[in-house]
Amino acid sequence: MKGIILHGGHGTRLRPLTHTGPKQLLPIGNKPMSQYCIESLKEAEVTEIAIIVGGIGANKVREYYGDGEKLGVKISYIEQNEPKGIAHAINLCQNFIGNEKFIVFLGDNIIQKSIRNFAQKFDKSNSDASILLCKVNDPSRFGIADIKDNKIIKIIEKPKNPPTNLAVTGIYFLTPVIFKIFEVLQPSWRNELEITDALQLLLENKYKISYDMITDYWKDTGTPEDIIHANGVILEKMESYFHGIKENGFKSKGKVMIGKNTKIEKDVEIQGPVIIGENCIIKSKSKIGPNISIGNNTKISQVDIAKSIIMSDCVIEGDLKIRDSIISNNSQIIVTESHNTNEKIFLLGEGTKIIF
Ligand code: TTP
Repeated sequence: MKGIILHGGHGTRLRPLTHTGPKQLLPIGNKPMSQYCIESLKEAEVTEIAIIVGGIGANKVREYYGDGEKLGVKISYIEQNEPKGIAHAINLCQNFIGNEKFIVFLGDNIIQKSIRNFAQKFDKSNSDASILLCKVNDPSRFGIADIKDNKIIKIIEKPKNPPTNLAVTGIYFLTPVIFKIFEVLQPSWRNELEITDALQLLLENKYKISYDMITDYWKDTGTPEDIIHANGVILEKMESYFHGIKENGFKSKGKVMIGKNTKIEKDVEIQGPVIIGENCIIKSKSKIGPNISIGNNTKISQVDIAKSIIMSDCVIEGDLKIRDSIISNNSQIIVTESHNTNEKIFLLGEGTKIIF
């Protein structure tokens, strides 16, 4: 089987973070979210992977993953000139796929569970497609599967009256039959070629779609809140380590991962889950966590911060409470007076400077 990772799209719900790169490179647990998809495919023994790139961040994706050797996979790139939909992106891979079965992973979907068993089962089966479903609380936001007698009978995009609460997740097990369906697929009201419409057409043409359930964690990380939530879940599953430098008096609780050469000064309180990269300085009186990722070379001084992601090469200084924030690479927040009373929320694109 081959693998396809979708790394294009508009990323409008994550602006300004997506003004300088694709959302799938935004870090969760200090690793680009699409790297989890590659690792998941590799774990399922799918090592020949095409990444669909498009728009502003295409070069950043190529630079980061290269030919895939570092991750033990073989990566090629396919350009999508405009984000015309998930089915449009998959259709660009016809030559790459040839006659094989394949797995498509949306590069912004985070799951915990291994897909190895699902992949093996699909490989041996006579299904024309297989999807992974997950129960959700707000089914009208998702593509939903209607099921009768353990069979999928219908797939509906964002239904007003959802027949079930079973969302179609962004991991699709497909066969080349889907390319026949794409030939007759029409654009939706938003002018995109939708994968849910293609799956529904498969059903209408009497092809067999099987399914499995994701019963633990699945997140489609379209918004900042989704990314911060996924970050907390991923960190909680990591093993603690400390490769940094600590001064006496620093306190920590829970899962804490500290990288090489990172200095934690005295009177710092860390409440896991927290990951801090390499070469950071966390100065006295800072309170870090829970649910915090900090990239490399970042300096934090006196700040009380929770439920947030701070990327690399940032400086955050001053008497400040930060919550629910994502702060991109190379940003600075410097507070010159005491502002500690209210919690502040930041969503900062790369290279932002705020002094107040
Ligand atoms: P979405 O999150 O549905 O769309 P989007 O990325 O355009 O974001 P927004 O709604 O915030 O503007 O896309 C699902 C996944 O598919 C995501 O990983 C991006 C990817 N994608 C492509 O690669 N090509 C496309 O043409 C589209 C629409 C999405």
